[in-house]
Amino acid sequence: MNGQTPDHLGIIMDGNGRWAKSRGLARTQGHLEGLKAAKRIVKAASDRGIAYLTLYTFSTENWKRAAEEVGFIMGLVRQYLRGEFDFYRENAIRIRHAGDREGLPADIRAELEKALEDTRDFTGMQVILALNYGGRDEIVRAVNRAGPGPFTEALLRSHLDNPDLPDPDLIIRTAGEFRTSNFLLWEGAYAEYYISEKFWPDFNGEDLDAALGAYGGRDRRYGGLP
Ligand code: IPE
Ligand code: IPE
Ligand code: MG
Repeated sequence: MNGQTPDHLGIIMDGNGRWAKSRGLARTQGHLEGLKAAKRIVKAASDRGIAYLTLYTFSTENWKRAAEEVGFIMGLVRQYLRGEFDFYRENAIRIRHAGDREGLPADIRAELEKALEDTRDFTGMQVILALNYGGRDEIVRAVNRAGPGPFTEALLRSHLDNPDLPDPDLIIRTAGEFRTSNFLLWEGAYAEYYISEKFWPDFNGEDLDAALGAYGGRDRRYGGLP
C-alpha cells in the first residue's frame, strides 16, 4: 500500500448513454447529466488536494457517432468553457487541453483557447480536458513534432501534448468497462486502474473517495521488487 492521494487523476467518464437508456431518455440527456457530474467531481477532486485531473471528454473515435449527438456534446463543452469562469477563479482552477486542437470545430477551439488563456495564471488544480484526444494520435503527433530520429523516450515525451505534467497515478473508468479506449497510452504505462460500476452521471464524491481509498491500498512496483 502506498497510502497516498494521487497527484494526477485521469477519468474515463463513461456510461452517459446507458444512464439515459435505463431511464427511457435520449442519449443527449445522459450527456447533460454527465456534465453535472463532471462539475461535481472537479470540485470534489480540487477539495481533496488532487493537483491534476484529466477528463476524457471526447475521443478521436467519438466522431463516428451520429452528427446530432456529436453536435450536442460540442455544445455542452462550449457552454462549460464559457459558463464556468467564476468557478475557475474562485477555486483557482487552470484549464488545459490534451488532444488535436486543429481537428476541433472553429468555435469550440476559440472557446477552448480563451479558457486556456483566461486561467493560465491560476495556481490551484489543473483540469486537463482530453477533447478530440486519442493516445495513438497524440503519439503520432509527438513523433511528427520531434522530427527525424533517433528517438528516445525522453525526446518523445518532450513532444507530448502536455510534457510538463506528471504521469497519471490513477485512472478511474465508470460504467464497468475494462479497457483504455485510447486514453493516455504513453502516460498511463504505470497508472493504477479503478473500475466503477456506476454510470458517469451517478458518480459522486463518495465514489471518488472509494477510488482514492483503493488507490492508497495499491503497491506500485514499476517492475521492481518491494
Ligand atoms: C461517455 O458516455 C461520453 C462520451 C464518450 C462522449 P457514452 O456516450 O459513451 O455512454 P455509453 O457508453 O454509450 O453508455
Ligand atoms: C471513451 O468512451 C471516450 C470517452 C469517455 C470520452 P467510449 O464510450 O467512446 O469508449 P468505447 O467505445 O466503449 O470503447
Ligand atoms: Mg461509452
